[in-house]
Amino acid sequence: MEELDPTYIQAPEHRSDSNFIPNQPEEIPVIDLSRLDDPEDVQNVISEIGDACEKWGFFQVINHGVPCDTRQLVEKTVKTFFDLPMEEKVKVKRDEVNPVGYHDEEHTKNVRDWKEVFDSYFKDPMVIPSSTDLEDDGLRLVYNQWPHFPSDFRKSCEQYARHAEKLALKLIELISLSLGLPKERFHDYFKEQMSFLRINRYPPCPRPDLALGVGHHKDADVISVLAQDEVGGLQVSRRSDGVWFPIRPVPDALVINIGNCMEIWTNDKYWSAEHRVVVNTTRERYSIPFFLLPSHDVEVKPLEELVSPENPPRYKGYKWGKFYVSRNRSDFRKLDTENIQIDDFKVFN
Ligand code: OGA
Ligand code: NI
Repeated sequence: MEELDPTYIQAPEHRSDSNFIPNQPEEIPVIDLSRLDDPEDVQNVISEIGDACEKWGFFQVINHGVPCDTRQLVEKTVKTFFDLPMEEKVKVKRDEVNPVGYHDEEHTKNVRDWKEVFDSYFKDPMVIPSSTDLEDDGLRLVYNQWPHFPSDFRKSCEQYARHAEKLALKLIELISLSLGLPKERFHDYFKEQMSFLRINRYPPCPRPDLALGVGHHKDADVISVLAQDEVGGLQVSRRSDGVWFPIRPVPDALVINIGNCMEIWTNDKYWSAEHRVVVNTTRERYSIPFFLLPSHDVEVKPLEELVSPENPPRYKGYKWGKFYVSRNRSDFRKLDTENIQIDDFKVFN
């Protein structure tokens, strides 16, 4: 058996075979958004989305309006970039000052992920808090960095991200309606959005039994829109019992999942599911998530309309930007303690 660098080794209870039952029939819903054109079907689509957010925190969409050619172009261009020699890729490597660009040392829950990534902000420049200190109101601007080659890398990422953002905001409206709220309820939260596009490349791995492409985690954002290729490997933990299920690749579909912010806004009605990526020995895999994040000054706490004396708030509020900068510290190095999680804001009534 091949040796694996110990920084990649998952604890036995988090490895790909734990709590995974092969060939289970249950499927995560695939929702056809062209049904929204039929006035008689709109309400059904909204309820199906609401049910999926409650039961799984995951669903897939087809006929979602993100053009196929835009997706194919970004998929092709990013592959050209990742195939470059390492000395080229590290020219746009991220560091403490510049939190976006190329990176191959990401840790999830303090174990190294078997992957390479490239991140770019949706807004360039983007406004973020300048420190993790809650008393400090200082802000700073952060800028994207782009490789010179391939020459259409930047344009193809920006073009794809614009479509993904449009879809994400459309889904937020539908989610809002599914909660009995006005369609625009969340609009103001995204004026200075901190959203970003990530390209994940998972190389073939000699020991997929020990390492993971991404270790189990919940996304910290509002909602994620993810394009995955045909290889497969993404798994979600079922809300009711924690058993892991694969998110099967469906041609041209996008995978949607609820992040921590939406879980908190809905006071746990909607579920931000744990998920992970299993790797394999022979095939590289690509995925392209767009993470929809609020503005830095948005207070993330249960919505007043959704709490009551019978259903009191389960979280204290926190400022999104401060959470983000605290959390991001752990991307750069292995920390001695677990980094900040939303459970740190739970109220125990
Ligand atoms: C992530 C993630 C899943 C995938 O980047 O947060 O969960 O399929 N990715 O790559
Ligand atoms: Ni994720």
